Amino acid sequence: MADGATLEEELRQLLEQETFPPPEGFRERAVVSDPAIYDTAEQDPEGFWAEQADALDWETRWDQVLDWSNPPFAKWFVGGRLNVSYNCLDRHVEAGRGERVAFHWRGEEGEERDITYASLHADVQRFANALKDRGIKAGDVVGIFLPMIPEVAVAMLACARIGAIHNVVFGGFSVESVRERMEFSDAKALITVDGARRKGKTAPIKQAVDEEMGGLAQLETVIVVRHTETECEMAEGRDVWFHDLMEAADADCPAEPFDSEHPLFILYTSGSTAKPKGILHTTGGYLTQVAYTHKAVFDLKPEEDVFWCSADVGWVTGHSYIVYGPLANGATSVMYEGAPDYPDKDIWWELCARYGVTIFYTAPTAIRACIKWGREFPERHDLSSLRLLGSVGEPINPKAWLWYHKVIGGERCPIVDTWWQTETGGIMITTLPGVVDTKPGSAGRPLPGVKAAVVTEANEDAGTEQGYLTLTRPWPGMLRALYKEEERFIETYWKKFGSDVYSVGDAARRDDDGYLWIIGRTDDVLNVSGHRMSTAEIESAIVSYSRVAEAAVIGQEDEDTGHSVTAFVTLEGGLDGDEEMIGKIREHVAKRIGKLARPKRIIWADDLPKTRSGKIMRRLLRDIADGRELGDVTTLRDPDVMAQLGDKVKERQAEEE
Ligand code: WTA
Repeated sequence: MADGATLEEELRQLLEQETFPPPEGFRERAVVSDPAIYDTAEQDPEGFWAEQADALDWETRWDQVLDWSNPPFAKWFVGGRLNVSYNCLDRHVEAGRGERVAFHWRGEEGEERDITYASLHADVQRFANALKDRGIKAGDVVGIFLPMIPEVAVAMLACARIGAIHNVVFGGFSVESVRERMEFSDAKALITVDGARRKGKTAPIKQAVDEEMGGLAQLETVIVVRHTETECEMAEGRDVWFHDLMEAADADCPAEPFDSEHPLFILYTSGSTAKPKGILHTTGGYLTQVAYTHKAVFDLKPEEDVFWCSADVGWVTGHSYIVYGPLANGATSVMYEGAPDYPDKDIWWELCARYGVTIFYTAPTAIRACIKWGREFPERHDLSSLRLLGSVGEPINPKAWLWYHKVIGGERCPIVDTWWQTETGGIMITTLPGVVDTKPGSAGRPLPGVKAAVVTEANEDAGTEQGYLTLTRPWPGMLRALYKEEERFIETYWKKFGSDVYSVGDAARRDDDGYLWIIGRTDDVLNVSGHRMSTAEIESAIVSYSRVAEAAVIGQEDEDTGHSVTAFVTLEGGLDGDEEMIGKIREHVAKRIGKLARPKRIIWADDLPKTRSGKIMRRLLRDIADGRELGDVTTLRDPDVMAQLGDKVKERQAEEE
């Protein structure tokens, strides 16, 4: 075994330790070191957030911190005006910090570029003008489908500069998903790339985009970044090269202030129906929360730290902690284009050593992959610059926590396990590292200014029992709406427990010390490698495949990816499919949604367990897939279905072994 018995033994000993205080000397130098901050914020939450908002540059200060007179529609910093890109760029350049590196960018084949605040500022101004030249105005939606290259930050900030609303789609999603998101949001422009690189191969992105985007009348402009020299066609009138636009554009684009509640971006995420939800974030509150949490939670000292969030910019983690939080704080970050195991499994650690990374933020699924690969990869490099580690996206199991703590953190780095969602905009629950001890497996406590509760179905305090996690006070980074779906916004988040209580969709437990232990989703949303996937969306993709009559998707516990996708599929005529068919369905799902959504396991079903009203009982499918005793089957229309399915599951398992 790669990790020798000694490490196993040491981890076992550490497992007995329940809490980990900040390392010696950490508290004295911490950005937040006074525990009283929790009480102060609790007594006056609006005052607390106003103080954090004051760390930004406002063209006009607000008259009212929070307007919550019409829940669930919140307004933060009412009457205030500011420009997000001014706060992320101009103010640092004006203060003489233009030569500070904003991003150490590293390409997949080892290319390197250091992008300073001054050069980012110059590029953003030019590109903002280029967007204007193409007729983009404040309030227009601009799609962004780019890999992890510096242009993605330029594009986002240029939108923010002119008040256009960006709608970034994760590069791992299929072009069909891109089209859908452009259509739902009425995007006027899309910024994409000729080709994208992945582990030595190149995917022809522009070509694929063309195959899908033709029918979208409102999409007037497609801007293409030349990245891989992949050949592509450029449609006359619609398509333009990024570099041509930049060359033609004016260099100066003064930042225009926008209302604090002006929309900043939409980000589509999975919900419990097949249609993704367009989470809408606005300007002043969002920036306040991401800037504050980035500084306080990661203990950021912008003059000395090198921060690296390994997420993709296409997820909310990338929006808040690669782009907006770090840039608002004038931080230096790493942006890496490639995969964690290319050219080899030590690339992350090589980059940590090369750029002197001090703060590293990743997901438990990545840590579990590293554990599997073995400690020799991190041990090839000097990781002594690291001083704080972070985790996000799913609960981190104590074993992964301890490995992270020991092998990556050398037992000297506090770990912040940060709980939040696309909807919350920024971190909500964690441990402020200089103030609060950590417990492996628990996210910690609500941050100052944030209020959470764990409640029963009847919205009563669940004590220390498992219950529903709720957020019981508005926070500045909260989503303001689901784009163009007001009813769904209310229905999804503000109905279950009342119009002023945000229903999170996660189950959790609070322990005697007030620490929260997040258990997982309570809706039909899966968490595959820290990425949100909707069972309904996957089902709809499978059913759209020609010979499929019906499908039901469930998540199964998976050692590597948290959840894995299992699909029960009925083919037309009730026949069983073969291996080839499995391959085709998987490919089809990849094409419709993206590779992450592909079912790991497909089980042929003659029929699915349904209630008399025709509702599929996924609970029973979960029981049967996990080999558990079946729950109540009396409400089934045809109880025999379960016996047949039981045999099919066993057959499948036998084949897998
Ligand atoms: C889960 C990612 C446990 C949770 C920022 C939440 C977590 C969903 C944690 C949001 C954590 C996120 N511990 N579970 N530290 N962080 N989750 O929108 O179920 O992609 O509701 O945002 O991920 O996923 P999303």
